[in-house]
Amino acid sequence: MRKRIVAGNWKMNKTLKEGIELAREIELQVEKQEDKSAGVIIGLPFIHLSEVSKIVNHKLISIAAQNCSSEPRGAFTGEVSAEMIKSTGIEYVIIGHSERRSYFNEDNETLNKKVKLALENSLKPIFCIGEQLEERKQEKQFEAVNKQLREGLFDLDDEEFSKIIIAYEPVWAIGTGETATPQQAQEMHKYIRKLVTETYNQEIADNTTILYGGSCKPTNAKELFSNPDVDGGLIGGASLKADDFFEIINSF
Ligand code: 13P
Repeated sequence: MRKRIVAGNWKMNKTLKEGIELAREIELQVEKQEDKSAGVIIGLPFIHLSEVSKIVNHKLISIAAQNCSSEPRGAFTGEVSAEMIKSTGIEYVIIGHSERRSYFNEDNETLNKKVKLALENSLKPIFCIGEQLEERKQEKQFEAVNKQLREGLFDLDDEEFSKIIIAYEPVWAIGTGETATPQQAQEMHKYIRKLVTETYNQEIADNTTILYGGSCKPTNAKELFSNPDVDGGLIGGASLKADDFFEIINSF
């Protein structure tokens, strides 16, 4: 059955020194935890990957990059390739975060190229999807998510798709303090799993981890994670404090 996961996305926060300290603090807490069945991932800025990868116990904490290039290598100043990320010894990469989609104009076609390069380099993608506020108001949230999945992921074969983690992050809930209700989250996660069943099969859908993201914090994580199709969270702001993040990890 699918793995439950709590993943932190640090976004553009923490200097290298602060990042190392936070990673150590999180690791200390996870180490003491009795039930270690949930996976813990921290999503770091590129500059932290190599250093933090050397100091954490990868059995306790996995590491994700927050992005990768849609090109394999070459004259793309400022870009970081999937192959380079893999060479730091880490396991995951966040692809298609709504901030990348909106501020850096990343469309589904580009994201599909990133997913494929990540998989070719044995990185596991955490693929983010989610509707804008306007789409929710017009009740077009299912259509929006359907399109992102179809164009971004659904041309993968069974074996490739089984390496994907999906993160549903309604854009109106990211960094706003406004959270999807547990009912809204469950409704969308169930819909996503149904699409995966139709596109692949029941077994693959049952094994796909679907995370919720958007103002998830210690006070609401328990209720969100208690839904049958919510397999954990992708946490922004609350992942920057070890205590808060750990409380969320303990919310299953
Ligand atoms: P917040 O938890 O800060 O709303 O951010 C969510 C997010 O974007 C995680 O990727």
